[in-house]
Amino acid sequence: EKGNYRHYMQKEIFEQPQVIGDALATYLDPATRRPRLPAAGPDWNAVGRLTIVACGTSSYAALVAKYWFEQVARLPVEVDIASEFRYREAPLPKGGAALFISQSGETADTLAALRYAKAEGQFIVALVNVPESSMAREADLVLPILAGPEIGVASTKAFTCQLTVLMCLVLSVARERGTLDAAEEARLCAALSEVPARALEVLNHDEKIREIALRLAEARDVLYLGRGAIFPVALEGALKLKEISYIHAEGYAAGELKHGPIALIDDQVPVIVLAPHGPLFEKTVSNMQEVLARGGRVILLSDMDGVATEGRHAAEIIELPKVDPFVTPVLYAIPVQLLAYHTAVAKGTDVDQPRNLAKSVTVE
Ligand code: F6R
Repeated sequence: EKGNYRHYMQKEIFEQPQVIGDALATYLDPATRRPRLPAAGPDWNAVGRLTIVACGTSSYAALVAKYWFEQVARLPVEVDIASEFRYREAPLPKGGAALFISQSGETADTLAALRYAKAEGQFIVALVNVPESSMAREADLVLPILAGPEIGVASTKAFTCQLTVLMCLVLSVARERGTLDAAEEARLCAALSEVPARALEVLNHDEKIREIALRLAEARDVLYLGRGAIFPVALEGALKLKEISYIHAEGYAAGELKHGPIALIDDQVPVIVLAPHGPLFEKTVSNMQEVLARGGRVILLSDMDGVATEGRHAAEIIELPKVDPFVTPVLYAIPVQLLAYHTAVAKGTDVDQPRNLAKSVTVE
């Protein structure tokens, strides 16, 4: 039931503070605020490398998780898309672990990849939204993301719930591996528990984002730029836009711009720069300046500090709450969903049933 919403996708975007809160209620111990998992995992001190495999939006959650696992838990991670992984016959480390991320838990390529990793003796973790799914049944450890049914073909709340549960997993692995001191752990857990409230603040920018989308709907091509754990959010923003508005969009790691894509920039190509103020801000801003110098029209997504220093250069600004860098991927995912949503509505496309797409890809 869509209630007061025009589309399931819109309803699911607006449900995010609630469902992220539901996931945290399960995965964070209310007394200690520390992560707790529903069942035991592998011995994370014995795991030398984690392989993460998924498709589409779920593979972007995997890429974000790579940054988190490596930085916070000091665990090397290999990320692969399932359609490539399943046929590559990749050698997998003895005693290794593999994580499969899937909203449906039925995506054919991801399921085949899971079976391959299982046959290779890996400890199998499945992060799924559908707990009765094939992937959940075949895994050694199942982590439900608790997003509730996702009807819109374009994934929204499943992505942010995947990220939420992944943060809990990363913190619990970090704890076992002893890579965080107590103060640091407390800081990250506190940032995580504030995400639902901050997500609600992001949703308050809906009207502003809708106005920006009216202009975005005129574009033929759009670029999304980000660095670090925000880079996969740029990929996700571009995927969302092309899926439902049919506008050609690409996401790039901001530092890659000068290695090719900068040739595309002119005043007809909006460039969406995802740049929370933090350790990588200056670097991203220098890429933004390269865009501006070529007449590019920048839509800047940043926080109060980022907007104060660089906002005057951007054609449009979306000012997001200031949060710990750890949780920025979840919060920056929301405005890119809304941008895609309102752009598609402005173009009059079928938002919940985009052409040529199916909700669950159970064939190759
Ligand atoms: C994008 C989208 C797809 C899915 C992909 C994987 O909005 O929905 O890219 O993310 O088909 O699906 P799951 O997560 O069910 O394996």
